[in-house]
Amino acid sequence: MEDRNIRRSVTTRTKMPRTTFLPFAVPHITQAEIDEVVDTLHSGWLTTGAKTKRFEHEFAGAVNAPYAVAVNSATAALHLALDALGIGEGDEVIVPVYTFTATAEVVLYCRARPIFVDVDPVTCNLDPLQLERRITPRTRAIFVVHIAGLPAEIDMILAIARAHALPVIEDAAHAFPATYRGKMVGSISDMTAFSFYATKTLSTGEGGMLTTANPEYAQRASMMSLHGISRDAWKRYRAGASWYYEVLQAGYKYNMTDIAASLGLHQLARSQWLLQRRQAIARRYTEAFSQWAQLETPPDPAHVGHAWHLYMLRLCLERLTITRDVFIQALTEARIGASVHFIPLHLHPFYRDTYHLAPGDFPAALHMYQRVISLPLYPGMTDEDVDDVIFAIEQIVTTHKK
Ligand SMILES: Cc1ncc(COP(=O)(O)O)c(C=O)c1O
Repeated sequence: MEDRNIRRSVTTRTKMPRTTFLPFAVPHITQAEIDEVVDTLHSGWLTTGAKTKRFEHEFAGAVNAPYAVAVNSATAALHLALDALGIGEGDEVIVPVYTFTATAEVVLYCRARPIFVDVDPVTCNLDPLQLERRITPRTRAIFVVHIAGLPAEIDMILAIARAHALPVIEDAAHAFPATYRGKMVGSISDMTAFSFYATKTLSTGEGGMLTTANPEYAQRASMMSLHGISRDAWKRYRAGASWYYEVLQAGYKYNMTDIAASLGLHQLARSQWLLQRRQAIARRYTEAFSQWAQLETPPDPAHVGHAWHLYMLRLCLERLTITRDVFIQALTEARIGASVHFIPLHLHPFYRDTYHLAPGDFPAALHMYQRVISLPLYPGMTDEDVDDVIFAIEQIVTTHKK
């Protein structure tokens, strides 16, 4: 859908250098979110309660999932998913190497071993062909990450997983709302984890959600998210409720608060508008950057609905006289915030040393990392902000092209 607020050409106006710094990411908070938080503060009930329950129900509806369990981070949701599958010592879990550390660290929480797999050189998502080669008799689950909000080739991955009788967990920290062949991400595989961290497409400050169609996984995750006790604490303090509860397992403290859910309810209600703003900005970037041989724009294939959490611009370094790091420095000097997603896990000291990994072990991930820049992409950006980013990038390319 076209957003008329986004101008089509930067060259139609005379550019002045920015006088203020454009942050890389800013959450979009309206009066509705603020009022809901204030209402919660006045209500006498701050932690997991009726608003969290309502948020779970509405989020489940939004992604067509029978069950949703609200937690305090995507990391918690990923951990609870592995717990629900009974992953433990000696088990292997497939993890795409191009991701944030959370996807792999939860495998270590379970004393299991992450088995890293390289990514597709174009999409930067898990490469299904490489995945099949890394499955062993010890493999117990497959993690799929939808990098930047671009859904991975989940049908192919599910076909491989089913052939080996393996469950699939989607790390959809970047992918709300996103679709794959008409299906909502969150309704497709065995379990899906979402993040509501401050910079994400739906933000509760910190927060997360686990969705599933399996009632046993949902029940286990719900129980383990609150100390492994038999009933939600909030029910204990309602009029007429019993003081009695039982601890059934040694669980975790992963529950979402009603303060966070207050933000989530309104972010969810506005999620289509928020998506349209990000889509319009991404479209504007792609239109401008696809005219430059020095730049490669991120893919946006027709069979998926991209959530556009990140705009990961790829530099064609062989056509530039500068490195990615110098490019980012030039953007900073132009007062444009930028970032890099991600440093592949095998380059980090912990994973490199623990699993004896070398940079060249995952060539596609390494190549992507060396040339990628995440640009500002958030609904609160003005048309001028978008123009400023494009102008700055075009200036840098013009100055440093081969
Ligand atoms: C791919 C990926 N997975 C998981 C996470 C963890 O999310 P959270 O901060 O909600 O735990 C992040 C956070 O940025 C992420 O980028």
